[in-house]
Amino acid sequence: MKHFIIIALLIVVSTLGIHAGIEAIGFLPVQASAQAISIDQLFGFYVWGIAFFFSLIIVILVYSLIVFRKRKGETGDGTPIEGNTTLEVAWTGIPLIIVLWLAYMGARSLADTRRIDPSAMVVKVVAQQWNFQFQYPQYLFASKDLYLPVGQQVDLQMTSLDVLHSFFVPEFRLKQDIVPGRTVDLRVTPSRIGHYHVECSQLCGRLHAQMTANVYVVSQADFDKWAKQEVASAPKDPVLIGQQLASLFGCATCHSTDGSKKIGPTWSKLFGSTVTLDDGSKVKADENYIHTSIVDPNKQIVQGFPANTMPQTFGKALTEEQIQDLIAYIKSLK
Ligand code: CUA
Repeated sequence: MKHFIIIALLIVVSTLGIHAGIEAIGFLPVQASAQAISIDQLFGFYVWGIAFFFSLIIVILVYSLIVFRKRKGETGDGTPIEGNTTLEVAWTGIPLIIVLWLAYMGARSLADTRRIDPSAMVVKVVAQQWNFQFQYPQYLFASKDLYLPVGQQVDLQMTSLDVLHSFFVPEFRLKQDIVPGRTVDLRVTPSRIGHYHVECSQLCGRLHAQMTANVYVVSQADFDKWAKQEVASAPKDPVLIGQQLASLFGCATCHSTDGSKKIGPTWSKLFGSTVTLDDGSKVKADENYIHTSIVDPNKQIVQGFPANTMPQTFGKALTEEQIQDLIAYIKSLK
C-alpha cells in the first residue's frame, strides 16, 4: 500500500511539472477567432493527457527499477503472477472510456467550428500558383489582402485555378484545402483585431513557401472605410478593370501583350485577326472566340500551342461581367 501512495504522489507531481513545462514553451500563437476556443480547449486536454500518461509510465518504471532492484545476496526468483482479472478489465475499460470521450469531444469541437451564421459575409478566395486573391462580391472588387471585420462570421468560398492549395491562418486555428474545379467553404469569426498572415500549407510548386497574404482583422467602422476606399479607387473603365483582372488572375504569365510568344498566344493585335487552329481551320478572333477561349480553352486550340495547358476553371472563377471586361482589355491591345 505504501508503494501505491508514493507512486500516486510522484505521478501527480510529475504530471503538474511536465504540464507546466509544455505550457511554458507556448506552442500556440494568439487566439484570434471564435472557432479557436474549442480547438484550443481540445489541445489543452491533449497536453494534460500527454503529461499524465508520460508520468504514469515513467514514474512506475523508474520507481520499480530503483525500489525493487536486485540487492546483494538475493538469488531467488520473483513471485510468479498468473493473471489478474480486475487489472485486465480496468486497463481495457478505462482507456476505452477515455478514447470514446475524446472522440465525442472531437466531434463536438468540429460541430462548433462548422456552425453556420446565416448573416455571414461572403468572401471568395481564388488560389493559384502562387498567390491568393480575395473577391468581395457585395462590393464588386478584388483585393490581394484579406480584410475582415471583427466579431462577424465570414464565409470564405474558396477555389483553385490550378493545383491543390491550402488556406491556413495559425491564429484562427483553421485550415482548409483548396481544390481545383470545386468550391469549398471555410467559416471564420475573427475575434481579435490585428495583422495576421494566411499561409498556403499544401506543397504546390516552386514558390509554395512564398504563397502568403496579409490578413487584417479590423473594427466594423475601419472595414467600411476600407471597403469604401477600395470601391472609390477601383477603375470604372472596362479596359482598366480587364487589365487589373489580367494581373490578378496571372494571365500575363502565359499571354504577352507585346507580341512575344509565351506559353499561350499573345494578346497583342489579337482582336479582329484571323487565327489558325490546330485542325487547320481558320476563325476570326471576335468577342465570341475570346469568350470561348476563356471559359472552354480546349475547344479551339491555336496551331503551334499545346492543348490542356490553360486552366479550365476561369468560367467558374470569373463572373460574366469580368469576362466582358477582359475582352474589352484584349480588344484594346493593338
Ligand atoms: Cu499554394 Cu502551397
